[in-house]
Amino acid sequence: MEHLRRSKVVDVLTSRDYGTEVLVKGWVRTQRSKKNFAFIELNDGSIIKNIQIFVDFPTLAKSMFGLPEEKNLIDDFGISNQVLKLMKEITTGSAIAVKGVLVESMGQGQHVEIQARSIELFGTADPETYPLQKKGHTLEFLREIAHLRPRTNTFGAVLRIRHAMAFAIHKYFNDHGFYYIHTPIVTGSDAEGAGAMFRVTTLDPVAPPLTADGKVNFAEDFFGKETNLTVSGQLEAELGAMALSLVYTFGPTFRAENSNTPRHLAEFWMIEPEMAFYDIHDNMDLAEDFLKSLMTYALEHCMEDLEFLNRMYDNELIERLRHVIESRFERLTYTEAIGILKASGQKWDFPVDWGSDLQAEHERYLVEKHFQRPVMLTDYPKEIKAFYMKQNDDNKTVRGLDVLFPRIGEIIGGSQREENYERLIRRINELKIPEKDVWWYLDTRRFGTAPHSGFGLGFERLILFVTGMSNIRDVIPFPRTPKNAEF
Ligand code: 4AD
Ligand code: MG
Repeated sequence: MEHLRRSKVVDVLTSRDYGTEVLVKGWVRTQRSKKNFAFIELNDGSIIKNIQIFVDFPTLAKSMFGLPEEKNLIDDFGISNQVLKLMKEITTGSAIAVKGVLVESMGQGQHVEIQARSIELFGTADPETYPLQKKGHTLEFLREIAHLRPRTNTFGAVLRIRHAMAFAIHKYFNDHGFYYIHTPIVTGSDAEGAGAMFRVTTLDPVAPPLTADGKVNFAEDFFGKETNLTVSGQLEAELGAMALSLVYTFGPTFRAENSNTPRHLAEFWMIEPEMAFYDIHDNMDLAEDFLKSLMTYALEHCMEDLEFLNRMYDNELIERLRHVIESRFERLTYTEAIGILKASGQKWDFPVDWGSDLQAEHERYLVEKHFQRPVMLTDYPKEIKAFYMKQNDDNKTVRGLDVLFPRIGEIIGGSQREENYERLIRRINELKIPEKDVWWYLDTRRFGTAPHSGFGLGFERLILFVTGMSNIRDVIPFPRTPKNAEF
């Protein structure tokens, strides 16, 4: 097999070079053996479809092992024992290489198939113990075998779409003049207040060094202070925007909340663009254009996977993606939204009151029932939003922005930032955020401050929307949730 280069199944399936020799490598999805021939469905992850391999036993016996010797002949077909042994080991889940001739397929559902001339077996998968021997496992069961679930059609599709979306995000920003800033994962500040944090420490958990008053002495810790995993790269991204104008971060973020919902992870990826000289309206324009371009990219590049998910999980998926691309996102203030919710006559589990945060039921009512399109809410009460949001003159609201999507609720959270030093420091003091934790952030407001805005898109919430999956644990390879970090 040395001289022939491996072809990916995606390329073989679109090839029409009938009669040429090809080499494919992958994992067996099914193998159906008859007396003197077999069909193998081979998948290599390059596409959701399998390539069909036709194995004629006498042909394989001849091309692989030479004409069978007399003592090896087991029947009239001239099949050697070696071929029968090989075919027995080629079961669902095994890894093989197949060299053969590309031919037009007579079977339904494919144009081409490969007539095998030789097969190499890399690794068997004992049918007695291979967990994916049979089809049709529940998503819950597959979560328990997260190390193997990438081999299913569903997770192959989700992972390819996830990759395509990550690529489309970098492409979008690169095309629009943004620079990718790598913000730290270990941070020394808890300024954001976006959620409970995971401590990072090398201190002995049983007997940590103590201060004179009996507290853990973090001065002796690795970084000489308390450190945590970041909840957001925003504050550092702002520093970048104050030099490069248009920047974004795209990295893992961590929140130690005990929220066991289908929309929350303890470790999730976030995309955070930060733009100098953008006000809240520019911010909304960017968010809308960005999201629509990602949906468009998915429809243009992931159609086979989307069609599979549409068929198997959510038969409105593709229609919904198209609808979002074609819709003008509705823009209104939090106060206006409260008015609509109060006037709706709906019964709520959580009461609607000016000043309290909107719950998923309220967000979904606005998006799915009232406007039937994505909604961008701005100007939230300052009490329910972070310290850095630009304060409005009414002294009650700030220029926050949430983008609400059907099925998902909040997919983006962001704001115009408070660029005025005095107003910012007043808010920081009100919230009792220690100045020593944010002196470097405050410096941007002391030296060349400028209006600026940004937002955070939850990557897994985006993937939930684009794949139509309903649990966030099924759109990240190895979900981190309370009491779950096995793989
Ligand atoms: O609204 P959040 O908390 O905003 C921020 O962190 C800002 N610093 C962003 C910015 O302005 N640069 O989070 C942003 C988004 C949410 O809208 C949601 O999509 C996602 O991150 N998100 C989560 N996704 C999965 N699991 C969680 N626990 C999430 N928490 C937030
Ligand atoms: Mg938010």
